[in-house]
Amino acid sequence: MEIKNQIDNIILIGFMGTGKSTVGKELVEQLGWDFVDTDVCIVEEAGMTIPEIFERFGEAHFRDLEHRVLAKVLEQRQQIVSTGGGAVLREENRTLMGSKGMVVALTATKETIFDRVKQDENRPLLQGGAWQKIEALLKEREHAYSFANLTIATDDLDKHQIAKRIMQACSI
Ligand code: S3P
Repeated sequence: MEIKNQIDNIILIGFMGTGKSTVGKELVEQLGWDFVDTDVCIVEEAGMTIPEIFERFGEAHFRDLEHRVLAKVLEQRQQIVSTGGGAVLREENRTLMGSKGMVVALTATKETIFDRVKQDENRPLLQGGAWQKIEALLKEREHAYSFANLTIATDDLDKHQIAKRIMQACSI
């Protein structure tokens, strides 16, 4: 059996702006698996944007939705799953991800993250002073991504190089 078929899913975790969706789509090109972005599923399920969910129902409600979506998505196999930066905050999500695939953490420096997200209005946690908010959240989440099977610093790599490293680590 091909090694590829022995891996249930490749699950991308990491702080906002670390390139999970971009790298996920690149992996799909290479592997022909399905691509699932849990944020997109949440928006579909809620029928509103992420800023609207935060504004109307608060972060806790968003996290409940996020958990439900993640659990549902991970019932399937052979997918590249891109998760929201905070999906790792709940232990039940970390356990679930660890049991349902190869977990890959993408990292980037504060400067790189700021550069990638500064124009973006779709991330409620970064509105009104993105630099300070990135700094505080990175500190708060310092160890949150360390349960991954593989960690890749993305600052100086393009999406092809990152995808290649992931596939090498998966022996694909
Ligand atoms: C969040 C990250 C976002 C999105 C939501 C909350 C977080 O996803 O899920 O705004 O808590 O880090 P991205 O990491 O794709 O930006």
